[in-house]
Amino acid sequence: MKLVAIILAAGEGKRMKSALPKVLHPVAGWPMLGHVLQACDQLGVDRKLVVVGHGHEAVESWLDGRAESVHQTEQLGTGHAVLVAQPSLAEEKAVFVLSGDTPLITAATLNEVLERFISDGPAAVMVTADLAEPFGYGRVIRDSSGAVSRIIEEKDATVEEKAITEINTGIYCFDRKKLFEALEEIDNDNQQGEYYLTDVVAVLRAADEIVMAVKAGADEVIGVNSRVDLAKVESAMQSRLRRGFMDSGVTFVLPETTYLAVDVEIGRDTVVLPQCFLEPGTWVGEGAKIGPGVRLAGARVGNGAEVSYSVLRDCDIGAKAQVGPYCSLRAGTVLRDGAKAGTFVEIKNTEVGAGSKVPHLSYMGDAVIGEDVNVGAGSITCNYDGFEKHRTIIEDGAFLGSDTMLIAPVNIGKGAATGAGSSISHDVPADSLAVERTEQRTVPGWAKRRRAKRK
Ligand code: UD1
Ligand code: CA
Repeated sequence: MKLVAIILAAGEGKRMKSALPKVLHPVAGWPMLGHVLQACDQLGVDRKLVVVGHGHEAVESWLDGRAESVHQTEQLGTGHAVLVAQPSLAEEKAVFVLSGDTPLITAATLNEVLERFISDGPAAVMVTADLAEPFGYGRVIRDSSGAVSRIIEEKDATVEEKAITEINTGIYCFDRKKLFEALEEIDNDNQQGEYYLTDVVAVLRAADEIVMAVKAGADEVIGVNSRVDLAKVESAMQSRLRRGFMDSGVTFVLPETTYLAVDVEIGRDTVVLPQCFLEPGTWVGEGAKIGPGVRLAGARVGNGAEVSYSVLRDCDIGAKAQVGPYCSLRAGTVLRDGAKAGTFVEIKNTEVGAGSKVPHLSYMGDAVIGEDVNVGAGSITCNYDGFEKHRTIIEDGAFLGSDTMLIAPVNIGKGAATGAGSSISHDVPADSLAVERTEQRTVPGWAKRRRAKRK
């Protein structure tokens, strides 16, 4: 059976009070709309049609071919939004309707809806949920036999109806023909003056059609209308993501202090200590130790690596490498296996070879560091002359004395050494020592005489 999904995303989201269209607000680092589209993909829909309106430029630019879009130029209500999509539909039998602001819905629930739709052949299957706090949602009215008979919006509901705790999630699967026949019957005679998709349920029932309901858990159905809702959804998504990793063998020492983006990958036996932020594009291998206090954004961290109190962006950390505490690894940093970037170290666009160490208080930028190199404390690549960036090459086995200034472009040969406190502006041949500093003058008794004078 051909499946199409219509995703409603044209509303302004007034209550968000935001310049960003509501459906682009991120949850777990990804637009809400993206989560809804992903659930549709996992269900295996053949086509996804996103109804766009407010801020459609931004929404379409994010979509960028992920789904088709149809324009609703005036937001006259959810029923109207579905009608706008009608000309784009083909002969699909089943039409899913979802909201771009309900990102927690899972493919498993959608699949249950689809199975009902196929096995029982109703006009519609809707997703409902029992909520302890149903305020704001449409309520599900059932008849004496227990069948769904209509939906009443919060603003149109009587006090008795508001007491109902079963809510409409705004997610449905319709028989295409019956849906559009019913949509012709609805009007906008309600508190909000909108064409409500929800009115289709009563129209179908009046035509003796069957409307079924599948109940979803409360953690799948929160609709985001405000920033408070957004925070609830984020928190639900975070616990879902953490649970998934725990089930696959990852330890979180204080789970609720870890933030995870939806695309993060973490291997088994990795331990995530408190206060870590694993942002989009992050991959962590097996048996690694992350945290406490680590931010990974677009970072790849190899098996058995250890990272504490550090910020790693767009970089690649090899197996058993060590990072931190208090280290900032910026774009283009590559630490090969077993390398170390230690305390108060900043590295950018630099490769640090296997087993090499940058242990203390250094800045390495635009450099290539070979294997088994030791970069002495406080050493710095002077890579920028105010106009251009220049490269530094430090070959295998070199030993930089503490506080070496590498005035790029410069090359330190294999096995070469630099004296502590040297400003190196000329290449150093292999196995040589380069020292650049004035001779030390020692004046015997000077300090003692000075103290005596001061007294
Ligand atoms: C809607 C449902 C309500 C349900 C709730 C679940 C209706 C009338 N009400 O209410 O029963 O409990 O969702 O979260 O359907 N949209 C358009 N075009 C429009 C209007 C809305 O595309 O003209 C989009 C919005 O961008 C949003 C979605 O439809 O993504 C839902 O609209 P919203 O205004 O948030 O409806 P609710 O009041 O939350
Ligand atoms: Ca909503």
